[in-house]
Parts: sequence; structure tokens; C-alpha cells
Amino acid sequence: MKKSFLWTTVLALASAALFAGCCCAGHHGAAAISETPFGTDSSGAPITLYTLRSAGGAQATICNYGGLMTSLKVPDRNGNLGDVVLGYDQLSGYLKSSPYFGALIGRFGNRIALGKFTLDGKEYTLATNDPPNTLHGGWKGFDKVVWHARPFQSPAGAALELTYVSKDGEEGYPGNLTVKAVYTLADDNSLRLEFTATTDQDTVVNLTDHSYFNLAGQGDILNHTVMIPADKFTPTDRTAIPTGELKPVAGTPFDFRTPTTIGARIGVADEQLVFGRGYDHNWVINKPLGEMGLMARVSEPTTGRVLEIYSTEPGLQFYSGNFLDGTITGKGGWTYQHRNAFVMEPQHFPDSPNQAGFPSVVLHPGETYHNTILYKFSVQN
Ligand code: GLA
Repeated sequence: MKKSFLWTTVLALASAALFAGCCCAGHHGAAAISETPFGTDSSGAPITLYTLRSAGGAQATICNYGGLMTSLKVPDRNGNLGDVVLGYDQLSGYLKSSPYFGALIGRFGNRIALGKFTLDGKEYTLATNDPPNTLHGGWKGFDKVVWHARPFQSPAGAALELTYVSKDGEEGYPGNLTVKAVYTLADDNSLRLEFTATTDQDTVVNLTDHSYFNLAGQGDILNHTVMIPADKFTPTDRTAIPTGELKPVAGTPFDFRTPTTIGARIGVADEQLVFGRGYDHNWVINKPLGEMGLMARVSEPTTGRVLEIYSTEPGLQFYSGNFLDGTITGKGGWTYQHRNAFVMEPQHFPDSPNQAGFPSVVLHPGETYHNTILYKFSVQN
């Protein structure tokens, strides 16, 4: 009697631990999740790192503060694991100041002109945190809030569900918005990020991920080769707001339909490259609206690492790390210099709330917002 009680207790505790995601790491070659304390935020809330491991050898570490992906380790062509995202070793780095390293971005990714938009006849005023515009959700976007975390084993691999309820009026946006972001690391070393959101009032939503990639794990990214299947991009004014034109990439340094290194044309005399200080633009991906498809393929010659990005979103903001200037010392003491990373953010087009010609970003009560991003890693010789 006593023995069976003991066993029941042990089993119950073991399965509780498994579902809580603690102490189920360690089986080499099997999907697993482990938790590590990462300090407390400014309000004293405990912050935790969740490491997902795949049978294919990849490891993704995600934090319940800002949904930050603090580390993403994938094999090179010799099977050596390397961290391919920028960030800080300590939580304090992220709390002090971060150019959105690895962050979940919302409620509205990218810029809204002059921090204003009109919805259902009412004008809303937002923070102008990237003067004269609003950027990435305002002063305290989804990258700076604590998410509720639930690690779990899904049939597809180790997974982490993050939930956040953004209150009506937060950062000036209307409606209570309930957001879920689910990361799943599959055995083929692909990391899937699935966003869903619902609202109780009409609002605008544009969620994305802001990971800074360097597939070599060091140096600049100018020798990375990029392919973006887009015939058009959205040129901007000098404050990075689209003019509204969908401009053909043909004959411009924005034509990545054939694989080209980032460095090949980044320095040419082109007004758009001057405005962006390099690439910091939205490409209009060649695929039907809402359909999952390839957004970009990036490869790095020295390690052989390849990253393919798939998404359901219509646009891809490709930012070539133009504001990195050697003032940030990140993980392992690496001082992040100009163009030491690239960011590729699948999203709706910038300033969509003010651009009638762009796909709509309005979410109504009763609808569910969906956005899936898939980072698929492989190697080539
Ligand atoms: C985004 C923007 C860039 C820059 C970075 C953060 O990707 O498009 O202009 O603000 O974030 O530094």
C-alpha cells in the first residue's frame, strides 16, 4: 500500500516535472526542454530562460521577458554547434538598452508615420519613439513585457507557449489584445513561431520576431548570400516611411531574386540605400496573401550554414545591422560592429494603418490573427 502510494507520488511528480518543463533535459539526441533562472526584471518579476533541444542537435533559448530568443545554436557543415543570434549574456543588458535583440515585436512591428492612425473614424496617437514616427510598438512594446510561459512537448518537438494580454489603450492602441506565441523546435532543426491574437475592439496588429542573425557567429555579414523571392519592394522617404509605391526591384540593388551577397551592392550610390544607411526596407514577397511560402534564403560560405525563412506574411523587412556601431558589447565579449548581423522580419508592410493600398492590418472582434514564421536550418558544401 505504502509502496504503491510512493510510486504513484513519484510518477505524479515526474510527470508534473515533465509537463512543467523542468528537469527533462539531458537525453542526448531526444527533444527536451530545460529551465534556467535569468534574474528579475525592474518590477522584481522572475525571468526564466527556456532551452528547447531537438534530436537534430539544435538548441533554442527563449526568455519570458520580451519573448527574447537569447541563443540559437545550430550545426555547421562539420556538425559543430554555433550560436547564430546576437544578444547579451545577462538580463541586465536587455533591461538597460537593446536594439530589439531576439525580441517579439508588437503590437505593431515597424513604423507608423508620425505616430498616428485613424480607425473607424477615430484618430489614435502613439509614442513617437523613433522620431518623428512610432517604431515596434512604442516605448514599451511586447519586447519589454513579461509573458506567461508554458513549456510543453508537442508531437512536433520541444515547445514553448508564451501568452500576453495587452490592455486596451496600452501604448495608445485600442482594444484588449490576447496574444500567443508558440515556438516549436523540430528534429529537422527548424524553429517554428506561431502567433495568434484576438481582440475585443477593432485594432491594428503586426507581430514579428527581431532576431539578429550571423550564420558564421562572428564578423560582418557582408559575405552572406541572400535570395529574396520578391519582384517589388516598398521604397521609403528619409524617415523610413513607405511612399506607397510598390517599386520593381529589377535593375536596383534591391534585386535579390538571384542569390547575391549582402555586400555586393550595399555601398552603391542609391537614394534608398542612403535613406536606409544600407538595407532597411520591406520586400513584397511573390506569393498569395496569407499563404505560407519562402521569404528568404541566406547562406554563409565559411560554415556552410543555410537559413531559409518561410512565413504567412506578405512582406519581409530586411535590415542589415546599419545602426550597430561598436557601442554594444554582447555575448562572450563580442563588440557588435557595423553590419555584424542581419535581421529579417516577416510582417505586414510598414505604416499599413495609413496606407490604403497595402494589405489590411485591422483585426476585428471574433476574428483570429495568425502569423507563422519558420526558420529552417541546413548546411551546404
Ligand atoms: C528595425 C528597423 C531599423 C532599426 C532596427 C533596430 O529593424 O527597421 O531601422 O530601427 O529595427 O535598430
